[in-house]
Amino acid sequence: TRSIDLAVIPGDGIGREVVPEAVETLRAALGADAAITTTNYPFGATHYLESGEILSDDDLAALAAHDAILLGAVGGDPRDPRLAGGIIERGLLLRLRFAFDHYVNLRPTRVFPGVVSPLVRPGDVDFVVVREGTEGPYVGNGGAIRIGTPAEIATEVSLNTAYGVERLVRYAFEVAERRRKRLTLVHKTNVLTNAGALWTRLVRAEAERHPDVEWDYLHVDAATIFLVTDPARFDVIVTDNLFGDILTDLAGAISGGIGLAASGNINPDGAFPSMFEPVHGSAPDIAGQQKADPTAAILSTVLLLDHLGMPEPARRIEAAVATDLADRAGAPRSTGDVGDAIRSRL
Ligand code: NAD
Ligand code: IPM
Ligand code: MN
Repeated sequence: TRSIDLAVIPGDGIGREVVPEAVETLRAALGADAAITTTNYPFGATHYLESGEILSDDDLAALAAHDAILLGAVGGDPRDPRLAGGIIERGLLLRLRFAFDHYVNLRPTRVFPGVVSPLVRPGDVDFVVVREGTEGPYVGNGGAIRIGTPAEIATEVSLNTAYGVERLVRYAFEVAERRRKRLTLVHKTNVLTNAGALWTRLVRAEAERHPDVEWDYLHVDAATIFLVTDPARFDVIVTDNLFGDILTDLAGAISGGIGLAASGNINPDGAFPSMFEPVHGSAPDIAGQQKADPTAAILSTVLLLDHLGMPEPARRIEAAVATDLADRAGAPRSTGDVGDAIRSRL
């Protein structure tokens, strides 16, 4: 039998509510086919406020020893001055993505049959955003001077390396080869001309190695139009870290809700554990009320199982989610009820 050694970071807010549902569903789907051990780590804003610790080098080393990481969401009350400056987002979430070289941020979107989406019909939406995960404006390459004065200057410089863009683009074309063989580069080459030229050149070069993949280009603003008016045109979207962040919340919204959107932070080389998490955050507005939809967290375990080469339990969970989604109607259910319903379909 296979075995999975999983690190679990529930995090904050609804992360702590959806992650137990995901872990329980993972266990149920694996049944006797695989042994799973889970180790819980307390990291997050709440833990930081209690202990002063965000994520130490020792913590990183401990996490590195696991096969994979399942994360709920991190981040606290945005008005809390002790959490200002994205201290948790940068010190924990981005630190994990950077330290474990999660250069592929994989965010699939699909409208399942029966799902009521405000905009689109099932079948119209089945695409995956291959978002760069370790570069762009996320690297913290900037600064501020004369803070608080009328002469303040603040910069965030977007970092784009040929190495980083090339490996992401290669991965995106490989994904397209296994899908409908259509790839769209999304950028803002009309304004961000330096990075735009690099991305365009590397996509064009990779496209020559994949003559069967049709590719096109959209400016990010136009991409938001077509995601709403004609999402069927998308198969694989390859884009930078910030555009990918924004487009995938939109993708969640058009596909039936952000509570359904799953993601994987992938280190394709396998040198480090990959990390799976819902696209959404800690949702302070509904935290502690058992209102959060755990489906995104549960679907993140599907990506996890696929990544670990265990497609059978992955398909079982996916099918159970699909059945549950097809039958959704009536009163909203609690987080636990949705988890129970999905597990009852396994
Ligand atoms: P959010 O995703 O937490 O919430 C946005 C809206 O979506 C809210 O109205 C929320 O109630 C709703 N929502 C989110 N998940 C839901 C679910 N599973 N079921 C039902 N409704 C859901 O985004 P935000 O409010 O911008 O961010 C809150 C905090 O989370 C911030 O601290 C932010 O930095 C952090 N965050 C963390 C992650 C992560 O850990 N990966 C991702 C995004 C945001
Ligand atoms: C996400 C989140 C993160 C991001 C934040 C919390 C740093 O919004 O995973 O989508 O921007 O990548
Ligand atoms: Mn986001």
